[in-house]
Amino acid sequence: MQKSDPPKTYRVKSFGCQMNVYDGDRMGELLAERGIAPAAEDEDADLVVLNTCHIREKAAEKVYSDIGRISKAGRAAGKKPLIAVAGCVAQAEGEEIMARAPDVSMVVGPQAYHRLPQMIDDAVSGRRATDTDMPAIAKFAALPRRRKSPPSAFLTIQEGCDKFCTYCVVPYTRGAEISRPFSDLVDEAYRLVDAGAKEISLLGQNVSAWTGEDAAGHAIGMAGLIRALADVPGLARIRYTTSHPADMDDALIAAHGEIDKLMPFLHLPVQSGSDRVLKAMNRSHTADSYLKLLERFRAARPDLALSGDFIVGFPGESDAEFEDTLAIVDVVGYAQAFSFKYSPRPGTPAAAMDNQIAADIMDERLQRLQASLNRDQHAFNQASVGKVCEVLVERKGKHPGQWLGKSPWLQSVWFEGDCQIGDLVEAQLLQAGPNSLEGAIKQPAIA
Ligand code: 5AD
Ligand code: SF4
Repeated sequence: MQKSDPPKTYRVKSFGCQMNVYDGDRMGELLAERGIAPAAEDEDADLVVLNTCHIREKAAEKVYSDIGRISKAGRAAGKKPLIAVAGCVAQAEGEEIMARAPDVSMVVGPQAYHRLPQMIDDAVSGRRATDTDMPAIAKFAALPRRRKSPPSAFLTIQEGCDKFCTYCVVPYTRGAEISRPFSDLVDEAYRLVDAGAKEISLLGQNVSAWTGEDAAGHAIGMAGLIRALADVPGLARIRYTTSHPADMDDALIAAHGEIDKLMPFLHLPVQSGSDRVLKAMNRSHTADSYLKLLERFRAARPDLALSGDFIVGFPGESDAEFEDTLAIVDVVGYAQAFSFKYSPRPGTPAAAMDNQIAADIMDERLQRLQASLNRDQHAFNQASVGKVCEVLVERKGKHPGQWLGKSPWLQSVWFEGDCQIGDLVEAQLLQAGPNSLEGAIKQPAIA
């Protein structure tokens, strides 16, 4: 590889889950600390970091077309940007990327991105570098202080997964479940609030598996952490995602009824409504145990909005088993949800199972499932019309004087009026669409 000039501008492009967004922001902060500025446009960047997702095949293949596109655009502009591949594809396919894509000069896994500055120095000197080590959350200590935060901020509290659902690459790409220490999280929450955050979403592949010790040395779980964060002055809202039904304990359920700052929203993936499929997926719940768990949450917080993840076309899924998934959707009435066609991931047990489902059957099942989920989302939004609630203003809308924010139930609400980004305004919900609601300000700027 040729030597190149040190990069002056960067672009981090994050794909996939919210944790990648968090990681991407942190990489941006690391680069900014090194004096590398964000580029205004993709084509202007001297350094492009592709922060990749490996969860489904399409997401993983995208990285190669992106690399080609960036190199081509660079050549057209008479430059050769440094390209770094980060995230879960980097972790899973590091060597392959280096072999397949000569324009890539750095491959950095999700647990090693604090080493990016050193790797940039190597790349500038003409050495390609790969780092896919998995040291236990060493990166967090090496990251710079947060200076600026959007009103709604992410905070990674836990990483990795020990659940080994048979379709999923996460336990391989993100490693074993690991919790960040309590005091680090409280510190980071204070800093985020200082930097402008009003809402913090606690992130983890399995957030509810978080464990730690509070300031007095007592063992605590998610509920204890949420209670401590609720005491952070200036923090108005707490959310968390993603959870596994197996880790939801009584204390967390009670927290939903007792802590006002904990928003009435729960993302709890079920994946399928068929017990046979759930067993083959190595999910530790049944359709019935999942529904019973939701009942307990709803008893604690009756206005709880529910969200979930679904996979259609898992190997061997019969028509009747797919109908079971539609049936559980009907029973729950989700406020929103994510649904995917099963995608075989190399090295996972399900990829080697017999009876892989044909693409056209998966397409049809996904369409039917999404029709049900869209219907329920619209119905949930319609049932919210007339309510008065707080909306956290997150950005300007498309038209002058228009603002966009989030309701406590994570609905997008747009309205007109006099306010600023970061305000909590009291709004009446007037009209519902499938993806957003129109509101009217009743009382501006509560906080
Ligand atoms: N194919 C399709 N969807 C998947 N997910 C995870 N692995 C796969 C796969 N191999 C979905 C699950 C999970 C969400 C983050 O992605 O629904 O909850
Ligand atoms: Fe993947 Fe299952 Fe772990 Fe979620 S719980 S990250 S789906 S292995």
